[in-house]
Amino acid sequence: MEEKWVGAIVLLVLVSGWYCSSCCGCLEEERVALLNLKHSIPPPTDYVLASWVGHGDCCKWVGIECNITTKRVFQLSLNLTRGWDVKGWYLNSSLFSPLEELKSLFLWGNSIFGFMKNEGLEKLSSLSNLEVLDLSYNQLNNSILSSLASLSSLKVLNLASNQMEGSLHIPGSFLHNITN
Ligand SMILES: *[C@@H]1O[C@H](CO)[C@@H](O)[C@H](O)[C@H]1NC(C)=O
Ligand SMILES: *[C@@H]1O[C@H](CO)[C@@H](O)[C@H](O)[C@H]1NC(C)=O
Ligand SMILES: *[C@@H]1O[C@H](CO)[C@@H](O)[C@H](O)[C@H]1NC(C)=O
Ligand SMILES: *[C@@H]1O[C@H](CO)[C@@H](O)[C@H](O)[C@H]1NC(C)=O
Repeated sequence: MEEKWVGAIVLLVLVSGWYCSSCCGCLEEERVALLNLKHSIPPPTDYVLASWVGHGDCCKWVGIECNITTKRVFQLSLNLTRGWDVKGWYLNSSLFSPLEELKSLFLWGNSIFGFMKNEGLEKLSSLSNLEVLDLSYNQLNNSILSSLASLSSLKVLNLASNQMEGSLHIPGSFLHNITN
């Protein structure tokens, strides 16, 4: 009698464990990618990144929107996570590569100075759904413009309030696709 109960409970635990890992969570590689991104961002950071912890469902973390069908991240909002008036830092664009369905990336107000060597915005070109990129209120200068040329899916680009000057030339036919 007792053994039956133990068996039933063990089975229940196993089944619910399988159910949660296969249907409810975000993708493991995306969770790991988000944690890598979090750890690459120097302090000060706000409550948004503080909610990104451990083995939980990363679709429930603050600033993340997942597609309910594919469970993949389609929007990442890191607006003002660091603030626009703190010490500048260099971002590694490859950290976003595992987020294959990313459509909107908001990096408004983070004091981004530029990008790590060979890790510029051209690395986002593997994200074929990327349509919205908000890099406003950072500390970027004209040197990043050429790396935008390969982002062919982009429709909305915000570069307001950075440290750009003179003519803002982006090579190729990049601007033809931009609607805003
Ligand atoms: C979610 O994924 C499905 C299947 O790929 C797609 O048809 C749909 O447009 C996606 N939704 C959003 C909000 O991206
Ligand atoms: C910040 O992110 C949201 C998406 O969550 C976006 O709608 C908004 O326009 C962004 N920018 C600002 C300045 O809040
Ligand atoms: C950037 O991130 C990628 C992916 O995590 C990593 O392989 C690469 O070494 C990083 N580049 C630098 C310069 O840290
Ligand atoms: C532009 O920013 C990059 C990256 O921070 C820096 O190496 C470069 O010296 C800056 N160029 C100018 C003209 O300020």
